[in-house]
Amino acid sequence: MSVELTPGVYWVGVIDWNLRDFHGYLTEAGSTYNAYLIIDDKITLIDTVKKELLPEMLCRVAEIVDPEKIDYIVSNHVEMDHSGGLPETVARVKPEKIFCSPQGKAGLSRHFKQDWPFVEVKTGDELSLGRRTLAFLETPMLHWPDSMMTYLKEEELLFSSDAFGAHLASSEHFDDQLPDCPCDYGRQLKKYYANILMPFGGLITSLFAKIAQLGLTFKIIAPDHGLIYRKNPAWVLEAYQRWASGATEPKGLVIYDTMWHSTETMAEAIVEALGQEGVDAKPMHLRNWHRSDVVTECLDAGAVLIGSPTLNNGLFPTVSDLLTYLKGLKPINKVAAAFGSYGWSGEAVKLITKELEEMKFKVIDPGLRVQYVPDGEGLQACRDLAKKI
Ligand code: FEO
Repeated sequence: MSVELTPGVYWVGVIDWNLRDFHGYLTEAGSTYNAYLIIDDKITLIDTVKKELLPEMLCRVAEIVDPEKIDYIVSNHVEMDHSGGLPETVARVKPEKIFCSPQGKAGLSRHFKQDWPFVEVKTGDELSLGRRTLAFLETPMLHWPDSMMTYLKEEELLFSSDAFGAHLASSEHFDDQLPDCPCDYGRQLKKYYANILMPFGGLITSLFAKIAQLGLTFKIIAPDHGLIYRKNPAWVLEAYQRWASGATEPKGLVIYDTMWHSTETMAEAIVEALGQEGVDAKPMHLRNWHRSDVVTECLDAGAVLIGSPTLNNGLFPTVSDLLTYLKGLKPINKVAAAFGSYGWSGEAVKLITKELEEMKFKVIDPGLRVQYVPDGEGLQACRDLAKKI
């Protein structure tokens, strides 16, 4: 069923109940691809959905209007979860115009190689649909260079594309319909921010400045994933402002893998000692925690300790995986250190320390190595490292 947001504005998206991986991100709660339909003199579709789910979107449109009556398509974002259904939609609808950013036109042309009736729009451009007006706001890198948002002025409704979204499959569509929202939804929102938008905190801060400069206010925020905020849009705006600022909590993550429990014993000693220093400390064994959950915890942690045994002169593979993923997400404002057990060569701690330095973490120790199994002295060194942190 389609869902009405305000009179004449509908959700016509698709719920992806079974999605469990979004380019390396564990989506344990599935997702939605939120497309929207505006009924006005010019009937307008905002975004589409994944190619294989398009028939479901078109059925929802058909509950409201014959899809062939759509006049305009607005493509806020090129990524295939929102544009994969575009070729079939364009072929069926034959829209008069497709509105997108200049980078959107370039990206859609590279993807689909079609001569579509593109109209490039920039920040501040407006489009009359008849009784209502759309205004466009370019938001490059939130999430791709082409990204933009579309604002329905009369309704103070922001179609925010990827920003403010969350991966959650739910029959409910609004923030006031989930009984424990924002608590549990907040976890999915944070996970989405950490895994998708963490590298772009500076751009998000600039976006808020732009929104203030343009004097935009929001009664409804309708992202392309997850819930639509109509009860409390300020809640998601405040969360984004906080995360974008890089604010951290007195929280310490001890992230590690282990071969014969020696690095694990070091991790446990560090966690215990951090707790005694008043830090909210948590061990995260990388074969029990998915990388996307680890980086979610990293988002607001003030301290990050990473431990690995040395395996074949290098890092344990899960640690290598985590460091690659974390580095790409550019976390900021962390105190950090490396630790690990080794048998003879012992390169892992040095390799981790190098990565932490490259991530511009404040590395407060050259790295703690213990040969084979930690003894009393080794465990005391772990406690001393925690005290330094
Ligand atoms: Fe939901 Fe960047 O795509």
